[in-house]
Parts: sequence; C-alpha cells; structure tokens
Amino acid sequence: MAAIPFGRQIVNWYQLHRRALPWRERSDEYAVWVSEIMLQQTRVEAVIPYYEDWMARFPTIKDLAAASQQEVLAQWEGLGYYSRARNLHRAAIIVMARHGGVLPRDLDGLLTLPGIGNYTAGAIASIVFGLDVPAVDGNVKRVLARVFNVADAVDTRAGERRIWELAGERLPSGKASEYNQGLMELGARICKPRNPLCDECPVNK
Ligand code: ADE
Repeated sequence: MAAIPFGRQIVNWYQLHRRALPWRERSDEYAVWVSEIMLQQTRVEAVIPYYEDWMARFPTIKDLAAASQQEVLAQWEGLGYYSRARNLHRAAIIVMARHGGVLPRDLDGLLTLPGIGNYTAGAIASIVFGLDVPAVDGNVKRVLARVFNVADAVDTRAGERRIWELAGERLPSGKASEYNQGLMELGARICKPRNPLCDECPVNK
C-alpha cells in the first residue's frame, strides 16, 4: 500500500484538529490580514480578544484607513511591537488610495505593502485567494526541519531557502490553505519547541 504523502497527511490532520478561531469563520481578506499581523509576535489565545475588539472598532479596510494613527495605536495597546499597527494602518491607506480598497491578488503585489513580508504574503495568498504558495513562519520551520532533517541551521540563509523549497515541494495542489495552516497548527500544538508530543504526530510514523 502506498504511503499517504506528507502534504496530504498534514491536510487530513488539520481537517480533524483545526480550532474554531474567529478569523477562520470570517475568512475574507481583511480578517485574515489583521489576524496574521497580530499573530506574528503574539500567541493565538492572547490575540483573540484583541482581534474581536479591533474588528468591532475598524470593521473594514476603509474604516481602518480613515482612522487617525492615534486611534489605531490606542486600539493596538497591549499587543506590543507597535510597528505592526503603524504598518497595517499605512497599508490600509495605500490599499484605499492605489488598489481600489482591495488587496492585490498576487504575491508581488502583496509584498509591496508595509508590514507584509514573505510569510504574511504567502498566508494571505493561500488562505484568502487559494493560491498554491507556501507560508513559512517559525512553527512551520521547526516542523519541516525536524521531519526532513534539514542539516543547515534554520536561521541561516541556506537553511531558510531549503525550508521554503521543501514547503513548496510538499504542498498538495489546491490545498495550500489547509496545508499551511495545518503546518502552523502542528508546530504550535504538537511539534512544540520543547517537549514535543511525538506520539500524537500524524507524520511520525
Ligand atoms: N499562526 C499564525 N497564523 C496562523 C493560522 N492561520 N493558523 C494557525 N496558526 C497561526
């Protein structure tokens, strides 16, 4: 019997174990964008109340763009790393002024916006637009480095390149959203930095 490919295992695991998170219920571009920026340096549990308050205060890109920087920073208060809020606000203004109020639909376009780097562009492109592109954050790096025994330290340029390559090679076509989020979630909940729960890991067979 043929083994189930790695990418498919991740997708299967995610379908069974995905958490119901507010930005997954409303997976439009603004919801996913805001949540991915908040999640960059903050844990899921801590982000949820901030995300809910943010969406109540600034329900659309247009509302965010129309707010003052002072209002935006006040709403961000407590999340830390305030450059994330300043960039999100600047990007919302640019999206209104130059992109007709909607996010660019490809990686290159997304990457022109303040605060959107390779990870966030990949996350938005795959989760919102369904593009077959990887999204590698710290959790995903750890999972792939462990599963595929990446020899280069993952914080070297070569290691980083190899990990993105691997993530792309293993991506099951048409399933990038579930694959990327499955890898992130596996890294956060099973393949933890310390004391990983290898007995519960779907790809440790
Ligand atoms: N961490 C950052 N973004 C995430 C997502 N979309 N799903 C799970 N964990 C995440």
